[in-house]
Amino acid sequence: MHKIEIMPENTKRYTITAALPYANGPVHIGHLAGVYVPADIYVRYLRSKGEDVAFVCGSDEHGVPITLRAKAEGISPQEVVDKYDSIIKKSFLDFGISFDIYSRTSSPTHHETAAAFFKNLYDKGVFEEKESMQYYDEESQQFLADRYIVGTCPNCNYDNAYGDQCESCGTSLSPNDLKNPKSALSGNPPIKKSTKHWYLPMNKYEKWLREWILEGHKEWKSNVYGQCKSWLDLGLQPRAMTRDLDWGVRVPIEGEEGKVLYVWFDAPIGYISATKDWAKAQGKDWEPYWKSEDTKLIHFIGKDNIVFHCIIFPTILKADGNYVLPDNVPANEFLNLEGDKISTSRNWAVWLHEYLADFPEKQDVLRYTLCANAPETKDNDFTWKSFQERNNNELVAILGNFINRAVVLTHKYFDGKIPVLGSTYDLDSEVIEKVKAYPRKIAKSLEQYRFREAMTLFMELARVGNKYLGDTEPWILMKDANNRERVATILNLSLQLAANISILGGPFLPFSMDRLSEILNFNEKNWSVAGAVDLLKEGHDLNKAELLFQKIENEEITAQVERLEKIKQENAVKNQKADPAKDTVTFDDFMKMDIRIGTILEAEKVKKSKKLLRLLVDTGIDQRTVMSGIAEYFTPEETIGKQVSILVNLAPRKIMGVESQGMILMAEDKDGSLKFIQPSDNVSPGAGVS
Ligand code: 2FM
Ligand code: ZN
Repeated sequence: MHKIEIMPENTKRYTITAALPYANGPVHIGHLAGVYVPADIYVRYLRSKGEDVAFVCGSDEHGVPITLRAKAEGISPQEVVDKYDSIIKKSFLDFGISFDIYSRTSSPTHHETAAAFFKNLYDKGVFEEKESMQYYDEESQQFLADRYIVGTCPNCNYDNAYGDQCESCGTSLSPNDLKNPKSALSGNPPIKKSTKHWYLPMNKYEKWLREWILEGHKEWKSNVYGQCKSWLDLGLQPRAMTRDLDWGVRVPIEGEEGKVLYVWFDAPIGYISATKDWAKAQGKDWEPYWKSEDTKLIHFIGKDNIVFHCIIFPTILKADGNYVLPDNVPANEFLNLEGDKISTSRNWAVWLHEYLADFPEKQDVLRYTLCANAPETKDNDFTWKSFQERNNNELVAILGNFINRAVVLTHKYFDGKIPVLGSTYDLDSEVIEKVKAYPRKIAKSLEQYRFREAMTLFMELARVGNKYLGDTEPWILMKDANNRERVATILNLSLQLAANISILGGPFLPFSMDRLSEILNFNEKNWSVAGAVDLLKEGHDLNKAELLFQKIENEEITAQVERLEKIKQENAVKNQKADPAKDTVTFDDFMKMDIRIGTILEAEKVKKSKKLLRLLVDTGIDQRTVMSGIAEYFTPEETIGKQVSILVNLAPRKIMGVESQGMILMAEDKDGSLKFIQPSDNVSPGAGVS
């Protein structure tokens, strides 16, 4: 262990990590609610207590999620990570997620750090080297690790589970667990082929992990402890720490080209690399943040990352032997959106950059709603309706209203100066008692990672203030000049409460609390001064009142709900399976049909019909009239001059009194829309189709 660093008395050192998001897409409300808002609340609280904190994060730029996205977008993996790294980084900045550093796993520091970490374990003989049979796609000539292989989840039967995880039930998988495995690259069933990898013998650490977690960390959240216990009870197997891929940190062993570190080996080491870069920029030593026994290491993650942060990464750190282990891993469950699982591929999400475009400067409203609804112990739901209610009924009607009334009345009656505190009565004492007690209560909840509870307590203080003004009614008292002293006391106490709120609310609502500090002309952020009722001295000047929160109207919510409904409909169309094939026909049956390429010469709408166009088609044999049901998808003008496929030996039929001599062939999409079947290049009219 590293020597214990001397710190100012009572200051504690914390390394707080937030899961490195894959740089394969933007971030959404589920990310914020599950990981980044709680982490940021915790860090802001620690900083306001004066603790020594390194809050690190960055983009996870390796692994199959990135290469698959590159393939889908037709760009290189590097282009993918460059694009999304900057989008993600900006969203975090916009929402006030106050990382000390937001780094990237493609950085040189990270490649060096991760490779050296692996090499050290390799040299110590920690890994088991094994040849084994792995899935291989013959067409793409590639081994199919992790998400390159998809199939049916053995746990919930979801038929698009990945080789490393089922996104539907969250179970962690290995490729061999999947039923009906298929390559995500070609869609073909894979073959098996032999390859060499380096395994971390998790089984050898099982006894130690059981003691360390099941005995030593009973205080971990029940969802985290429970998942660890079921993993450990199933027994641990050696796990490959390398992959046959060409995107990632190269395996630092000579002669082993074409292999990279497993993304779940390199990603958590990204926390260490980020700390190194941050410390260097600050002129500090990074090592105490990872190696001093008195450092508290805390990982904020979502539930799908529990096993990696509670079992695999600690084993890697333990195998090295020089690092501290996590003190806690306060993982959250998942946030759903309007009753459905958030999904990037189905575009079922509220993307942070889109939210901000629709609700500019309302970052705190989202932070507030997400914390109030955080999936701390079970999955939870985000609805636009509750978002509106939380804003209108809580932030506007309670917190904002209290602050505004206190400040406006002080301007009105006391020229914006803190009035004198006179004699106090029972109603006043209640406020004073609450102000004294709540900083400790809120802190206790925060220290137990109960962020919803902490924020509810914080809002109770605003309710206390609102009720105090409602009960004492200073605006009525002020009608009698004899009550001026009493009103001074009420407003003094209200403003002391407001000053406390500006400190205690900082972790939850950083933007609004900064504005409150500005209104109160009071810049103290130190948690330890909260609890006092003399934070604002008598005669202290307030700045002018300003509304902290604005009402959100029904129309704004309806627009969001409609957007989601539209996505739902689009998804329903996409998911429709094509009709099954019709009965088999013989080649001779098929050859009976005479299909030609013709050119549309004339087109007009058929009166009294919404669907029909009357077309004159040059079939190369003759010019003939065809009645075609395409009017909902094409104007007559659009069709003229188009080459189309036409069945020329269809028996003529009378349609709306006109004889139709043939049929134009159309492709009908899942949504019912029609498209012409055309040759890829112009051909002479009359060309046969077979
Ligand atoms: O699940 C994910 O999004 C991973 N990119 C999390 C990595 S967290 C850590 F290990 F870096
Ligand atoms: Zn499943």
